[in-house]
Amino acid sequence: MKKSLGSVLALYPTPVAIIGVMNQDKPTWMLVGHVGIIGHDKILLSLHKIHYTNKFIRQNNRLSVNIVDENILPQADYVGINSGINVDKSDVFVYTLSENNTPLIDASPLTMDCLVVDNYETDNFDNFVCTIENTFVEESMLDEKNKVDYRRLKPVLFEMPTYSYLRTGDVIERGGILGKNWKKGA
Ligand SMILES: Cc1cc2nc3c(=O)[nH]c(=O)nc-3n(C[C@H](O)[C@H](O)[C@H](O)COP(=O)(O)O)c2cc1C
Repeated sequence: MKKSLGSVLALYPTPVAIIGVMNQDKPTWMLVGHVGIIGHDKILLSLHKIHYTNKFIRQNNRLSVNIVDENILPQADYVGINSGINVDKSDVFVYTLSENNTPLIDASPLTMDCLVVDNYETDNFDNFVCTIENTFVEESMLDEKNKVDYRRLKPVLFEMPTYSYLRTGDVIERGGILGKNWKKGA
């Protein structure tokens, strides 16, 4: 028996990412769990309009998306609970500026340098649609075919209902194998 919870957002867990954007000559950072994929070349970031970060994203149309692993989780959490309105977060991460003037976190295992191409505004949210212009990954996170190996790079996941961070788990199977073997009515 399933119990109705009403209209509850339950699409969790999601990976958390640190968004980086330049405020003149200093970066500012915030943590985002409401991230999504649109097609094969675009991602979506859903940011409440009250945040300090949004203004700079709107100004620059450039941002970085930095995957969080457990090594940088304390700092990631810090930029998720402190606003740039009250705290200078520019020195939380050592970073490298991309050719597009986005700050890329050195300690993040994978960073995407993004161009903001649209903003699908909903009631209280800026939903930034971004194209990925370049992706930088720690070489140790690549497999022998030069693909990102998510058994090594372990993005931290987040779920809102209990406000908790989760680890990724074991590999179940490669896609396309279980369905191939499953027979209707079996
Ligand atoms: C785990 C976690 C996930 C978060 N996810 C989001 C999110 O998806 N969207 C959002 O607008 N804020 C999210 N936040 C809140 C912002 O990161 C937080 O309010 C931050 O202080 C905003 O910084 P700013 O005011 O400097 O921009 C999250 C916070 C945490 C701790």
